[in-house]
Amino acid sequence: MTTSRQQLPESIEVKRTDPVYMAHAYLTKVPIAAIIPFIEAFTEPGQLVLDPFAGSGMTGVAAAILGRRARLFDISMLGQHIGVNYQNLVDADVFRKHGELVIAMARERVGNVYGVHCQRCNGAAELTKTVWSVVVRCGSCRGPVTFYRALEAAGWRKEQMACPACGTSISSRNPRIGEEPVLDAIACSCSRTQLEQPHTPRCPGPRWRTCAGRTCRSSRIARCTRCRRSAAMG
Ligand SMILES: C[S@@+](CC[C@H](N)C(=O)[O-])C[C@H]1O[C@@H](n2cnc3c(N)ncnc32)[C@H](O)[C@@H]1O
Ligand SMILES: [Zn+2]
Ligand SMILES: [Zn+2]
Repeated sequence: MTTSRQQLPESIEVKRTDPVYMAHAYLTKVPIAAIIPFIEAFTEPGQLVLDPFAGSGMTGVAAAILGRRARLFDISMLGQHIGVNYQNLVDADVFRKHGELVIAMARERVGNVYGVHCQRCNGAAELTKTVWSVVVRCGSCRGPVTFYRALEAAGWRKEQMACPACGTSISSRNPRIGEEPVLDAIACSCSRTQLEQPHTPRCPGPRWRTCAGRTCRSSRIARCTRCRRSAAMG
């Protein structure tokens, strides 16, 4: 029997940046480029691929690209919703129009919750994600140490992490006493790619901007650009 099956590679390395992957977030989502080699190795075109834990349906998209059929299941309603819509053609213009409408309505209701100040160009930008760090207790001075900051100060060498107050070694074995936001990934018109900057509190509306540490010491203060009043952020 002739077969068009590909050998499964020793290792598979892919980026999580392709447009299909980026179209919708889902927990533990797998990029299609990581699934394709498995389908090619174990099936022929036209055969049926089963994924009973399909999540956002990436296996189905990979199968369709390779000319295979797919049966997908997932216990999660969210997974089913995202998966079904990944598998079916959507009119891009209608989708964009409705998406923009939903975003505009949400903005009107809850404010510009993802508005953030770009520290590169000083313009208005949009928050993509915030990275949080655990806060641990120093074994000597008992003070709080932000794990990410200590790692950054140690040049990203874990074995050289130390308490900024007393210099005692810090590791992931120190007791965890909290969490705090440390880094923002933002989308700004000054850059074609995502930018990373130290975390600043969110801007609650178009009239407000964060002081970004320039006019006050507390990073939890925002200042209105019109009335100049400051307010503590939640
Ligand atoms: C690792 S995720 C799969 C992600 C998927 N590969 C993707 O790219 O989006 C595992 C999925 O299994 C689903 N799951 C867990 N228990 C299940 C069950 N008993 N029956 C069906 N699905 C289940 C979860 O809802 C979750 O979406
Ligand atoms: Zn910018
Ligand atoms: Zn200490």
